[in-house]
Amino acid sequence: MKDEIILAIESSCDETAVAILKNGNELLANVVSTQIEIHKKYGGVMPEIASRLHIENITIVLKEALEKAKIQKEDITAIAVTRGPGLIGALHVGLQAAKALALDLNVPLIPVHHLAGHIYANEFVTPLKFPCLAIVVSGGNTELVVMKDHLSFDIIGETLDDAIGEAFDKVARTVNLPYPGGVSIDRLSKEGELKYHLPIPHVDEKYCYSFSGLKTAVINLVTKERNNNRPIDVPSLARSFQETAINYLLDKALPAIDEYGIKQVVLAGGVSANSYLRSEITRRLKDRDIELVLPPLWCTTDNAAMISKVGHYLYNRKVFASLSLGADPTWKIEDYKEF
Ligand code: KG4
Repeated sequence: MKDEIILAIESSCDETAVAILKNGNELLANVVSTQIEIHKKYGGVMPEIASRLHIENITIVLKEALEKAKIQKEDITAIAVTRGPGLIGALHVGLQAAKALALDLNVPLIPVHHLAGHIYANEFVTPLKFPCLAIVVSGGNTELVVMKDHLSFDIIGETLDDAIGEAFDKVARTVNLPYPGGVSIDRLSKEGELKYHLPIPHVDEKYCYSFSGLKTAVINLVTKERNNNRPIDVPSLARSFQETAINYLLDKALPAIDEYGIKQVVLAGGVSANSYLRSEITRRLKDRDIELVLPPLWCTTDNAAMISKVGHYLYNRKVFASLSLGADPTWKIEDYKEF
């Protein structure tokens, strides 16, 4: 039987990435070109610059992935591509490349949700088991997703304002730490103490979050100390903010385990690299009969390997898109039904 070879493209933010997956489990290539060093100068991702860099990089990354995988274009079974959510201009670059390839090779085009990709990154560790609770924590999203089966996503709660990663980035910027702020805060917090008392946000909805109040509390604290010419202990501020944010995240998320009869908990998204989140959730679930899966660190940043995994499942369900498919920067993970 002919091998199933999925070529996947990811360009939703500041990484241009191509991966090639054989028969759903053998990663033949996983090439990522990151723009982080360029965006660092601006303290965050500049959307227009991101799009232009994707245009410059996409063919180079594609060529490198094909060479690494040692396959010919003609061996490809289908093209999977991130359709959203993300930056509209950035998404378009990957989508147009994917459409051109699908047209040229006469193979199906598979629309992949970026956050589904982050959830399926865990399949590089172990298969998903259902019901599964995915704690999705990234720069643009904070969502609690319950999966009863493959490709079935129910959002039971989400942030009502800032995403948790966005709060990490904004707090970092307030104390002049480099982008991406979450990485800087995580690193510095190891040298700090829990000496700043920060308010725990309150939201009535059981599984919903608010991170903007916590972020503003940090900004106000820093402004007050500066106005009074008092030094700020940045490592301790980093630690206090990090632990308040992560404990709040887990305090609200973990009761879903009992309510939804969860068998497996997975972390997904850029913030899942956070060392305190990883150790604290491990500690809290240690004595429970729940499988905890932490995505490999290489899969917490954006990549196309995770997109190829979702592409594999969608290919087998024949979820294909037409060549008129548009990017959707605010696509909801629950909306796979529309194809
Ligand atoms: O998943 P991702 O690339 O964002 C979106 O696709 O939206 O994640 C990027 C986010 C940034 O906010 C970054 O600061 C955060 O993940 N991040 C972290 C860590 N590493 C990355 N946040 C906390 N701790 C980390 N170690």
